[in-house]
Amino acid sequence: GLGRDLSGRHVVISAGGTREPLDPVRFLGNRSSGKQGYALARTAVARGARVTLVAGNSELPDPAGVDVVHIGTAVQLREAVLKAAADADAVVMAAAVADFRPAAYATGKIKKKDGQEPEPVALVRNPDILAEISADRPRPGQVIVGFAAETDDVLANGRAKLTRKGCDLLVVNEVGDHKAFGSAANEAVILAADGAETPVPYGPKEALSDRIWDLVAPRLTAP
Ligand code: C5P
Repeated sequence: GLGRDLSGRHVVISAGGTREPLDPVRFLGNRSSGKQGYALARTAVARGARVTLVAGNSELPDPAGVDVVHIGTAVQLREAVLKAAADADAVVMAAAVADFRPAAYATGKIKKKDGQEPEPVALVRNPDILAEISADRPRPGQVIVGFAAETDDVLANGRAKLTRKGCDLLVVNEVGDHKAFGSAANEAVILAADGAETPVPYGPKEALSDRIWDLVAPRLTAP
């Protein structure tokens, strides 16, 4: 780390998984633990930043010294991130945002009916918050970071995703075998829009967080 190189900066971090409700008791969710986003929040505080953590589902306690906004769905996550991003120097999208949500929400619990097969669940696309914020840049010069979990052709797929999303940095995780989801450790390559490639060896999510801030800090515009 570089001491308090984020002091005077406001960083917005999304973490955890979204939950997309089907009815009052059921949702579509994912296995995100929130560990990477929470580690990013703790390390940013240690480096002097003011931190807003937009948190989806996670078992983790609110980190000390962080403004935590709890959300459920991708649409709620979008609202909270856009609001916080208005004066942010950096936005890091570590949340596992559901790509789709149920097209309809049943206000009463969906019931099984004797002798009838269930209705199929229709899905609609959720907004892509990372792509939207990268295109709109709510505050000029802000640094935008995304994550990608890939199983094969990790670098080629990561490079294509960086271009498609339009962010400045993309942290590409290879998923599987004790890596990424639920684990305390991670191995990644951080791709930059300017072509730079920073491999980060297998290690704690705090260490990966610090490597991310090492790349964000010099890209921030003069205060
Ligand atoms: O497209 P994919 O889900 O692989 O992209 C992952 C990155 O995009 C993550 O940084 C995630 O937080 C973000 N994302 C988003 N909105 C979505 C889906 C993903 O901001 N609807």
